[in-house]
Amino acid sequence: MTKDILIAPSILAADFARLGECIEAVDHAGADWIHLDVMDGNFVPNISFGPSVIHALRGVTQKTFDAHLMIKPVDAFLPEFKKAGCDRITIHPEAGPHVHRSLGLIHSLGMKSGVALNPGTPVEAIDNLIDMVDLVLVMSVNPGFGGQSFIENQLEKIRSVRRRINLSGRDIRLQVDGGVTPETARRVVEAGADVLVAGTAVFKGGAPAYAANIQAIRDSATVDPT
Ligand code: DX5
Ligand code: ZN
Repeated sequence: MTKDILIAPSILAADFARLGECIEAVDHAGADWIHLDVMDGNFVPNISFGPSVIHALRGVTQKTFDAHLMIKPVDAFLPEFKKAGCDRITIHPEAGPHVHRSLGLIHSLGMKSGVALNPGTPVEAIDNLIDMVDLVLVMSVNPGFGGQSFIENQLEKIRSVRRRINLSGRDIRLQVDGGVTPETARRVVEAGADVLVAGTAVFKGGAPAYAANIQAIRDSATVDPT
């Protein structure tokens, strides 16, 4: 059964001087989830925000807080992200040697778990994790920054992940993140994605443009069932 396509705007591309207003506006503009790109300047060459900012934003919206942790190490911070109000936590196997344990910790804290693969990480990295996750995230850019170009060769990885999810018979979301626009969304969904993260493509033009930006991605991602 194909899942409905969800749009998860990444607030990394929002106006950091008015994050609360931006989240409220993108919620009303039709966002399904709010994608929170947490960066520590160690796992990725950029620093964004942490649990205290997420906690401050929690009351702004009821939408799912989908945290993408680009941090190393991970485990010690997981309780803080739970307390901050995150519903889902996605982590990178590249961030440490104990990703299986970290995924179990995320579940023990009552959150949905996800594993994210950098463009250079082979799909086999999820083969021993597929029964531990509620989501697989295929990075279509190298993590750390918004506004980058979509890396075309990740389409084949998306197809490979889709095959693995279907074989598992488990209820797992396939999320794609990086360079998702109305031009790339259709191919990403045709390859098997059902959650689309978009930062620049949603937040460009300011709040008056959010609804049309989200709709343009949604329209492009609406693939005729064949
Ligand atoms: C990159 C982040 C992405 C990024 C998406 O490390 O994980 O979520 O913010 O931004 P766009 O949609 O502009 O590529
Ligand atoms: Zn992300």
